[in-house]
Amino acid sequence: MASSTFNKSIILFMLVLVSLCQAQQSASKPKALLLPVSKDPSTVQYITRLNIGTPSVPKTLVVDLGGRYTWIDCAKGYKSSTYKPGNCGSAPCSLADSDICGKCLSAPKPGCTTKNSTCNLNPENTVSGPVGFGELAMDKISIQSTDGSKPGPLNSVHDFIFSCATDMLIIDFARGAKGMLGLGRNPVGLPTQLASAFGGGFRRKFAICLPSQPKANGVIFFGDSPYIFHQIDNKSMTTDISKLPRLAYTKLYINPVSTAGASRKGEKSTEYFVGVNSILVDQKPIRINSTLLSINNRGFGGVKISTVNPYTVLESSIYSSLVKAFEEAYFPGWNESRVKPVKPFKDCYTATVRTSLGVAVPDLSFVFEDNVKWDIYGANSMVEISFDVHCLGFLDGGSNPRTSIVIGAHQLEDNLLQFDLAANKLAFTETLLWEGIRCSNFKF
Ligand SMILES: *[C@@H]1O[C@H](CO)[C@@H](O)[C@H](O)[C@H]1NC(C)=O
Ligand SMILES: *[C@@H]1O[C@H](CO)[C@@H](O)[C@H](O)[C@H]1NC(C)=O
Ligand SMILES: *[C@@H]1O[C@H](CO)[C@@H](O)[C@H](O)[C@H]1NC(C)=O
Ligand SMILES: *[C@@H]1O[C@H](CO)[C@@H](O)[C@H](O)[C@H]1NC(C)=O
Repeated sequence: MASSTFNKSIILFMLVLVSLCQAQQSASKPKALLLPVSKDPSTVQYITRLNIGTPSVPKTLVVDLGGRYTWIDCAKGYKSSTYKPGNCGSAPCSLADSDICGKCLSAPKPGCTTKNSTCNLNPENTVSGPVGFGELAMDKISIQSTDGSKPGPLNSVHDFIFSCATDMLIIDFARGAKGMLGLGRNPVGLPTQLASAFGGGFRRKFAICLPSQPKANGVIFFGDSPYIFHQIDNKSMTTDISKLPRLAYTKLYINPVSTAGASRKGEKSTEYFVGVNSILVDQKPIRINSTLLSINNRGFGGVKISTVNPYTVLESSIYSSLVKAFEEAYFPGWNESRVKPVKPFKDCYTATVRTSLGVAVPDLSFVFEDNVKWDIYGANSMVEISFDVHCLGFLDGGSNPRTSIVIGAHQLEDNLLQFDLAANKLAFTETLLWEGIRCSNFKF
């Protein structure tokens, strides 16, 4: 009798333990995570900090929306007891779609660990162009969870896959940046790795809200959560951007031919392409050769969104057409004029009238499929040079560029864009200035 009671209480104790563990596990599984993002004014790069390794060290990384994977300079000072290299033919190596098997000749260290069979990736500096080789690496990262209104406790992902690059790739980066954060659309892009690590309720979605002001944090959300921002001039008045009635949606496209500097034959692009049917100036369509707007079988053409291009870059004929239409709409009646160009811009103007949406200029719009419009006002179309000189923040990409329109970061600032990888959908807000909100109005 006594022994059976004893057994029962052991079983009960174990049941309690099991359910405690389950409860703890589900409590520790976040639904959403976040990273801060700030703007480096001298390079116009958008940078974040990712905690990596054991002990955990924050690394400053340039945010690359379409980047295939995260890469970090391991050449100097990368010390971590949880670092693991990926061997050729290993599961992480095939997840990263690599067939490059490398040799390491120097003494083993992070970035150069196994003598004869290191799975290599091709980390790329998409800001200035160089592509290198880098060991496929795994280490622990920690990211703050969020309920959508503020940062919460840190959560760890063990064996986060990235590429360990050499310091030769760190060229033209914001001061202190040691690599790039890859948010691309593939199994080893950060959004998918986080969704795989936390599973279940953690959606394969992320949202970016780039700040327009230096020294202020915008935010990148991963997973699904409200997006709660406060007003510019009243911190106690908040809005959940995910519930904004004017949130608009358009389809995301995949370019079947990789746009990376080095890629495997048959590799798809991991960048985010959208379908643009026309561009409007003052609500009137400009002349565009529509062939340029679709992606051809060599992967040329089409429209993508980028955080490494500070300003939107247009194929030459589209660029000329936009500037012509802009001036035809701007000059008559506005009493403004063209002034000397200011690099990298060619089209600079006097601009004297200010509104809550930036300087007063003709509206520009991208029209997506089903007539879904993204209107762009002075704050995003123009770049302030001085109080009364503003330049059109669009650049000439030459003829026959790889991608006809690259929507750049200046045009994304103080807009929230949500990329839903499972549903192939982009949700966008247009400027949050309509709500009296900036991306830097999230409570960090
Ligand atoms: C790597 O080197 C080790 C030890 O020299 C050897 O046992 C192993 O077979 C080698 N692997 C490959 C893929 O060459
Ligand atoms: C800010 O908003 C709150 C809530 O609506 C309101 O009670 C308060 O008076 C506002 N403060 C200012 C300075 O406008
Ligand atoms: C439109 O662009 C395509 C692709 O660059 C080109 O082959 C074609 O000649 C252009 N058509 C016109 C009318 O300019
Ligand atoms: C137009 O601008 C010029 C120079 O900025 C100014 O002298 C003139 O008064 C303006 N005209 C009108 C009609 O506003």
